[in-house]
Amino acid sequence: RCLSDWSSDVCSSDLDFNVKTGAPEKLRCACVVVGVSSPRRLSPAAERLDKASRGQLRELLKHGDIDTGCGKTTLIHNPKGRIEAARILVVGCGKDKKLSPQAFTEIASAAARAVHASAATDALSYLTELVVADRDLAWKAQRSVEASREAVYRFDELKSDANPPRHPLRKLAIAVADRDAVKSARQGVTRGIAVANGIDLARLLGNRPGNLCTPGDLADQARALKKAHPALKVQILEEKDMTKLGMGALLSVSRGSRQPAKLIIMQYKGSATDENPVVLVGKGVTFDSGGISIKPGAAMDEMKFDMCGAASVFGTVSTVAELSLPVNLVGIVPATENLPDGDASKPGDIVTSMSGQTIEILNTDAEGRLILCDALTYADKFEPDVVVDIATLTGACVVALGHHATGLLSNDQALAEELLAAGQISGDRAWQLPLWDEYDEQLSSNFADMANIGGRSAGTITAACFLARFCKTYRWAHLDIAGVAWKSGKHKGASGRPVALLVQFLMERARDAG
Ligand code: BES
Ligand code: MN
Ligand code: ZN
Repeated sequence: RCLSDWSSDVCSSDLDFNVKTGAPEKLRCACVVVGVSSPRRLSPAAERLDKASRGQLRELLKHGDIDTGCGKTTLIHNPKGRIEAARILVVGCGKDKKLSPQAFTEIASAAARAVHASAATDALSYLTELVVADRDLAWKAQRSVEASREAVYRFDELKSDANPPRHPLRKLAIAVADRDAVKSARQGVTRGIAVANGIDLARLLGNRPGNLCTPGDLADQARALKKAHPALKVQILEEKDMTKLGMGALLSVSRGSRQPAKLIIMQYKGSATDENPVVLVGKGVTFDSGGISIKPGAAMDEMKFDMCGAASVFGTVSTVAELSLPVNLVGIVPATENLPDGDASKPGDIVTSMSGQTIEILNTDAEGRLILCDALTYADKFEPDVVVDIATLTGACVVALGHHATGLLSNDQALAEELLAAGQISGDRAWQLPLWDEYDEQLSSNFADMANIGGRSAGTITAACFLARFCKTYRWAHLDIAGVAWKSGKHKGASGRPVALLVQFLMERARDAG
């Protein structure tokens, strides 16, 4: 089967956005979207629609036909009176006067899902008039776009009968109060589209199965990205290059696989100055069987998602290039499979990393840190301002933080705080764990400079301590996305996290640089 590459059609969405001014009862559309809070507080647009419909909204509220709980939706067909819209979607906003950013996101998502599921193919949303604590109009517009793109996302390139929704949402207009507001709403829309494109790319790569997303396929995707954004420089290192560089740790993982490992380097120079770049390093294990320390069979298919760190680097680089952000950025992706084979690494094997430090592989399933450590050593050659690695690194992170927060560890508190703040603004949140020397001691080995595992306790932290040993020359942060990169169960699939966090982080830096 031939999969399309990113540059052709995959990430160009069928959903268009625009910004409008005007009264909700006067603009023609298939569905007008307004918020109503508990117990019966109408937003300004809802108030106008109520008047124009001779009190239909209040009537429905009075009879309990509208649920005002946060994110609950009610669709009204053929509203009464003089209303140009064919439908009104009332979205419950809960009882708070000022919404939290999370509540607004839930409201925007619920609205998009409801319109997408309805027969309306275009909508006009007044949700940006809702008051959100510490967030401006551009943010609300951006978040509305991202939520809508999330609602319409599908991965069906491998279904022979794709069975698309009969009345998909194709057009979302974002209503704003006046001409002055249009500009900032448009800015939010532009950013939202670019972020959603990056997220979609990360989801696409994550969702593809291991046989169709090999290290070689990831290298091809990097070349396709370069075709879409000529400003990018792309370089692929082969195993022979890695041997020359002394990347014994990375190569020890790919030994057990017939697919050759690739080290993918994507460079974007958007800053007018020669400022030192931000380097992103993404774990690209295209399938993690555990190797000789093989994993149990249950849900092993999900280990195709073990390249979601890499996917987030692809997505972020693509969004940054699309927005032409004035930053210098390098994306590095060590890509390999982790499989058992007669030639695979064995527990007890000792390998020499590019840094010269020796590693005793006590568990071949702790392979992520082995490929990352050589990529992190390689990162030094770009004289980075900061390095951030992104990896589905430890099951322990899922135990510690579940599926909501990315685990964050850093050797620099200012950098950690920048990333935490970017998580808050983007809604793609992280939570910091300590990187203390006491934990590092768990990595001691009887036979080599260090072991690749640190025992049963604090697995996320000892994994980060391992990486920190290769990041002594620069400011560095580690994002463990094991719990957030994909969903299991009925809605199994890649999430595209933490593209939104990383783009926000880079946007903030672009702004601070002036
Ligand atoms: N890719 C896994 C981590 C993982 C596990 C992510 C489950 C998401 C869900 C990683 O390579 C791994 O196998 N880590 C081991 C480390 C252990 C052997 C120290 C783990 O977490 O069990
Ligand atoms: Mn593993
Ligand atoms: Zn892994």
